[in-house]
Amino acid sequence: MTARHYHWWKHGVLYQIYPRSFADSSGDGTGDLRGLFSRLPYLADLGIDGLWLSPIFDSPMRDFGYDVRDYCAIHPLFGSLDDFDELVDRSHRLGIRIILDLVFNHTSDEHPWFIESRASKDSPRRDWYLWHGGRRLAGLPWRICRRPPNNWRAAFGGSAWTLDESSDEYYLHLFLESQPDLNWRNRDTERAMFEQARFWLDRGVDGFRLDVINYIVKDRQLRNNPYHLRWTFPRRHDQQLHRYDRNQPEAHEILRRFRALMDRYSETMLVGEVYPNEGRMEPEASASYLGNGSDELHLAFDFSLMETRFTGRAYRRTLERWYSAIPPDGWPTHVLSNHDKPRAMTRRCRGSLAKARVLAALLLTQRGTPFLYYGEEIGMRDGKLRRDSLRDPTGRKYWPFFTGRDRSRTPMQWNSGPNAGFCPPDVDPWLPLNTDYAGSGKAGGVNVEAGEADPDSLLNWYRRLIEVRRKRCELTHGSISFVGTHRKLLVYTRAHEERQVIVMLNFSGRERPAPPAGIPAASARILLSTHGDAPEARPEAPLRPYEARLVSAEGPANAEASARHGSGTR
Ligand code: NOJ
Repeated sequence: MTARHYHWWKHGVLYQIYPRSFADSSGDGTGDLRGLFSRLPYLADLGIDGLWLSPIFDSPMRDFGYDVRDYCAIHPLFGSLDDFDELVDRSHRLGIRIILDLVFNHTSDEHPWFIESRASKDSPRRDWYLWHGGRRLAGLPWRICRRPPNNWRAAFGGSAWTLDESSDEYYLHLFLESQPDLNWRNRDTERAMFEQARFWLDRGVDGFRLDVINYIVKDRQLRNNPYHLRWTFPRRHDQQLHRYDRNQPEAHEILRRFRALMDRYSETMLVGEVYPNEGRMEPEASASYLGNGSDELHLAFDFSLMETRFTGRAYRRTLERWYSAIPPDGWPTHVLSNHDKPRAMTRRCRGSLAKARVLAALLLTQRGTPFLYYGEEIGMRDGKLRRDSLRDPTGRKYWPFFTGRDRSRTPMQWNSGPNAGFCPPDVDPWLPLNTDYAGSGKAGGVNVEAGEADPDSLLNWYRRLIEVRRKRCELTHGSISFVGTHRKLLVYTRAHEERQVIVMLNFSGRERPAPPAGIPAASARILLSTHGDAPEARPEAPLRPYEARLVSAEGPANAEASARHGSGTR
């Protein structure tokens, strides 16, 4: 493999940081950039190639940074522009790239663009947002029966339209009332937003994660969304099929123009968040934002893996569908957890370390770019938060039916000391820590220091997997073919040129025979196993409960394998 074939965003391991929760250096209980400086060596040691930072821009923080007041300023909670420049410099010296989180769909209502836009109907920036006079119920007087222009619901509750009394029109917000949606059909808005991106590219950032990128353009005629019959109480937003408030063709044109801008900066990357139309898995929708594989996003998130049941068969189905959706020149991503969803350790593994090891092996041996969510590597679980500690607007609104997203955003657990080493002992962290950071034994001692000290920890399992991934280009560049269909097992081959890595995952608490089709050739040897790496162990021995085994073999890939995804030559 030559350097020409190596793209950090394709073959590296990426790590999401929720900056408020990673490391606090200023002693105010909220994470910041200087706190992150001191943890860069930890991330380099883990084998991380790039960091995606959730928004650090100036913001009133109603949605914790996803409501931006100034795209070109760092929120003082996190530090200053100088701190940011230092972060880029320090990270680059360690071989770690920096990806910022750009919110294109909406701004804060405190952004100067919106303040100007709402000032009057004649404002030069009026058309930068989506305004509408509303509709009248037939025959009834306007003042009494004025209604929003259509039935669209905001993701965080209520109508997606709010009447601005002073300028006497409704504005659209697909999230909070304080997050007005921009009008991307206006080319001045586009130019201004691209300018904000250029500001960061010129400072040396390596790419952007684009928030809800499939929402940016809405139906021109503002048609009503249809309903479906699924029970989604109390979130009426989820009752609609989001046919008209997202996924409009013009979004692709905008992305193509943005990609052209990005391509002027070498080795930069765009990864987009794409939410499906119907609240269920839709990998094809995510993949469509990769365009022809080189003219829109470099990477798109698909969240199907998060929704998949813990069985070999279910994972195979999900993965095959995702791989089939990717255009021939496109590249997949894989992700188990993020700041909007319950952690996989809680939701899928129910706190079981054995299961978490299997999922880690699944994530880090797929074809495509894996994204880890901070703390996943030490087995952080969702925190148990009382109502009065909730900060997330959705959690506060829908409690107790839906407790919101705070539980997966609790502070990083560095050690077993006070406040887990996240912030000084005498300070209250912005969200309570999960109590499992302290103590020892099965349910305790979930922290980095404990993980480092224990050779069999989950942390050291992640490190070993990442190391193998780096060393074996079958795992970064190879094609993937699934072998056999078993409810409790998942077996696949990653092949590159004449070498293969065979991955066998046992999703059950029982011993299972290795499937005959998966038994590799005579040259085979075990590369890595959750149950010890004894070199004399037989690669074709039965898989022990929740075993993840990686086997190295020479020669052509298994003939009985399913369709191959990827040529194995990039
Ligand atoms: C998706 C982000 O991931 C989420 O955290 C945020 O609340 C919404 N977009 C609105 O920006």
